[in-house]
Amino acid sequence: MNNLKTFLTLLLLSLTTALAAEDGSRLWLRSEMPDDITLQIDSTMPDDDGYRISGHTVTARTQMGLLYGRYALLRGEQGESHPFYRLRILNHWDNIDGSIERGYAGNSIFWNDSSLFTLNSSLLTRYAEACASIGINGTVLNNVNASPKMLTREYIRRVKDIADILRPWGIRVYISVNFGSPKALGDLKTADPLDPKVRRWWQKKAKEIYKAIPDFGGFLVKANSEGQPGPFDYGRTHADGANMLADALKPYGGIVMWRSFVYGAKHQGEDRVKQAVSEFAELDGKFRDNVILQSKNGPLDFQPREPYAPIFDHMTKTAQMAELQITQEYLGQSKHLVYLAPMWKEFFSYVSPERLVGIAGVANIGLDTNWCGHHFSQANWYAFGRLAWNPMLSSEQIAEEWLTQTFNCQFSIVNSQLKSMMLRSREACVDYMMPLGLHHIFKFDHHMGPDPGGFKADYPIEWCPVYYHRANADSIGVDRSSTGTGATLQYREPYRSLYDNVDTCPEQFLLWFHRVPWTRRLKSGRTVWKELQWHYNHGVEEVDSFAVIWQEAKPCIDAQRWQEVENRLEFQQKDARLWRDVCLKYFSQFALKK
Ligand code: GCU
Repeated sequence: MNNLKTFLTLLLLSLTTALAAEDGSRLWLRSEMPDDITLQIDSTMPDDDGYRISGHTVTARTQMGLLYGRYALLRGEQGESHPFYRLRILNHWDNIDGSIERGYAGNSIFWNDSSLFTLNSSLLTRYAEACASIGINGTVLNNVNASPKMLTREYIRRVKDIADILRPWGIRVYISVNFGSPKALGDLKTADPLDPKVRRWWQKKAKEIYKAIPDFGGFLVKANSEGQPGPFDYGRTHADGANMLADALKPYGGIVMWRSFVYGAKHQGEDRVKQAVSEFAELDGKFRDNVILQSKNGPLDFQPREPYAPIFDHMTKTAQMAELQITQEYLGQSKHLVYLAPMWKEFFSYVSPERLVGIAGVANIGLDTNWCGHHFSQANWYAFGRLAWNPMLSSEQIAEEWLTQTFNCQFSIVNSQLKSMMLRSREACVDYMMPLGLHHIFKFDHHMGPDPGGFKADYPIEWCPVYYHRANADSIGVDRSSTGTGATLQYREPYRSLYDNVDTCPEQFLLWFHRVPWTRRLKSGRTVWKELQWHYNHGVEEVDSFAVIWQEAKPCIDAQRWQEVENRLEFQQKDARLWRDVCLKYFSQFALKK
């Protein structure tokens, strides 16, 4: 009973925080809570944090279920709902100096390198509330390119302080760890996972962490990838490395999320999109049961469109999580309006949600007043949480929910136009950036803007845009078929055959899997070159139509948010043109020779 009381106080408090935020910092959280709401516990309900709503009565088995149900009631839900995944986790790529890798909305809400830094607990409470309102129940507090310092006493203490703030909202904390930490911190001469001293070091560390944070979630690890240390440094496998950490966490119920985003190590020189399968498939069945392999949705790197990553087909005895990227590293960052739910739903149409035990999303949250840089980028945080709760929801339903809660616009015609803009925005982005299966033709390093001719002799070739289209006077695209790099052979049927044959390969993946002459005719009757031009132009036209919709929405939206989105749309219109003009000019030097 006492617990329930505390909980009700918490609910009222959350109401206050939502009310207090009627400024640019507003999220989708609505304040019109019905005053006759009844909350009740029913221990016969399924054993999870689901809820049942009937009228204004919310019933759940757990207190978290009641909290989730209360937010569901606010968004107008009725009936019963249960979380599809147990693990619904944000991954913050926040560095301990306060900067954020691929962060476009200001510095970290968790870290700052000043020794005077104190946590902003009201900000973190609002963050936690926002996460809880969409069912997110875990957060990794630091970058996968992790500083070994995270495991020092000082930082464990800070993790504990954050955990204490987030806990009432059902959010468990995790950290990314640097595999080389025992050595990097100067405690040992090695980080070899089979060395007993190393194993003991991690066991002691786990004990220290759990003493401070009894409900600590576990570790996320990027090993032997892009310069990070890992088990290969000692001639060991990823399984050796992951299992050693898993053993240390096991007594406390912790998990290891081991990333499959590896390239340029053991299989250097192989087609980059094949390397994860080459490295991990033979390890299937060799991981402890508290290891989860975490893989990006596509086999390359969060491009606006990729075919699904075939590693999801290969690991049948290993628990798997998908890693989606909410921060739009390759989708216009916080400057472009791109609603990502359709991209994630596309992934789920290839990889059945049942194959996964959880979902991770690389967060787009920072200290900016509006949290995400672009007001519409909040919709991606929202959509991530909703899909992690229920991957069967449609992009359309999620957009509708978000729009209603965020802008509360009364005109249904405007709402449906805004929804249509959101739903078309990802395809528009693909069109003005990289249609027909083109990929990775971004400017170096920061990945904002086009650079199809990009080449640097001192960079690994797989960082150079020219490697990804190989355009010459005859043809364009990469032959990844069975007679090329063989990437198509990593797919299950029917995709293997479908993608392998240039005549059956869906045109949206054509240049990803095949190298074709500029003069090849496509379904539209146009040549490849003409079709590219059509898509680039279409993408620009789509963004222009978004700008018109936004003008029409003006009476519905508060002045500040309207203007801020308007400014970004103007930028996006210019940037879409830049993409089109740079890419078509570059490719024309080859195509026009035909
Ligand atoms: C991309 C991204 C990096 C990131 C890496 C990863 O390559 O550009 O910033 O560290 O992915 O996911 O590990």
